[in-house]
Amino acid sequence: MSSKIFKERYSAGYSSKLIQNYERRKISREAAFFAPYLKSGMNLLDCGCGPGTITIGLAQLVTPGYCTAFDIEPSQIKRAKENALNENVENIDFRVTNAYELPFPDEYFDAAFAHTLLQHIKDPVACLREICRVLKPGGIIGVRDDDCSSIIIAPEAPLVRKVISLLDKHMKFCGGNPNIGRDHRALLRKAGFENTQGSASTSYHGTDQDIIRCARLGEELLNSKIIEISIEQGWIMDEDLDVLREALREWGQHPDAFEAVIMCEAVGWKPL
Ligand SMILES: C[S@@+](CC[C@H](N)C(=O)[O-])C[C@H]1O[C@@H](n2cnc3c(N)ncnc32)[C@H](O)[C@@H]1O
Repeated sequence: MSSKIFKERYSAGYSSKLIQNYERRKISREAAFFAPYLKSGMNLLDCGCGPGTITIGLAQLVTPGYCTAFDIEPSQIKRAKENALNENVENIDFRVTNAYELPFPDEYFDAAFAHTLLQHIKDPVACLREICRVLKPGGIIGVRDDDCSSIIIAPEAPLVRKVISLLDKHMKFCGGNPNIGRDHRALLRKAGFENTQGSASTSYHGTDQDIIRCARLGEELLNSKIIEISIEQGWIMDEDLDVLREALREWGQHPDAFEAVIMCEAVGWKPL
C-alpha cells in the first residue's frame, strides 16, 4: 500500500447531517456537465461515491451498461447499497476501495466520474493517473470540486467567515485543497488526459430551510474533530466556540440569508 494513503485524512468526516446533505445530490444538478457524454451500455466508474445518490442517476443513464462505484469508507458503501436498493437500481457494484490503488484491470471502463473527491486528496495527480490507467483509450473523465475561496454569504458575518476559514485550514491540514477546482484542467493534463474542457456551476443555499440546514451543519462541524485540531493548532481558543456557534445560529435564522460557492467542473479524454 502506498505511503500517500497514510499521510492524508478525509477532513469532512461522516456525521449524519453531512451525509444527509450529500444525499440531496443528484445527477441532474451535480453531474449535469457530465451526463451529456454518457450513453446507454457504457461501463462507468464513480470514484469516492459517498452515499451514492449521484451514482444511482449515473447508473440509470448507462443502463443496460454497468456502474462500479467505490469509496474508502465502509459506512458510505453500506449506505449507498441501501439507497440503490430503495431506488430499485441493480446495475451498480459498490465496493470499499482506495482511489490510489484501484483493483481493476487496465483499460476497463468507458467513463469515470469523481464528485468532490479530488479536493480531499493529497496527491490528486497520482489519483487521476490511476483512474486514467483503468479507462479505455478514448475514455472520458468528469470531475467537479468546490473552489471555496469563491464562497459568498449574505448578510456578511465575520464570525461565520471565521468558521469557513477554520474548515479551509482543517482541509489543508488533512492534505486536501479547498481551492482545487480552478486547477482541474492542469491536473487532468498532468495525469495524461487531453482535450480538457473546464466549466463551472454553483452550489447554493437560498431558502429558509436550506439556510437553517447549512447553519446546523456548520454547528455540527463545530462539535467535531475539526475543533480539537483547530484548538491544538492554535487557530481558535476553546472560549471562542460558543460565540461562533451563536453567530452561526443567528445567521441561520436571518430571513434574507444566502450562501453560494462556485463549483468547478472539467472533462478530459484518455488519448487513443
Ligand atoms: C465529499 S464526499 C463526496 C461523496 C459523493 N461523491 C457525493 O458527491 O455525494 C467525498 C468522498 O470521498 C471519499 N474518499 C476520500 N478519500 C478517498 C480515497 N483515497 N479513496 C476513495 N474514496 C475516498 C470519502 O470517504 C467521501 O465519501
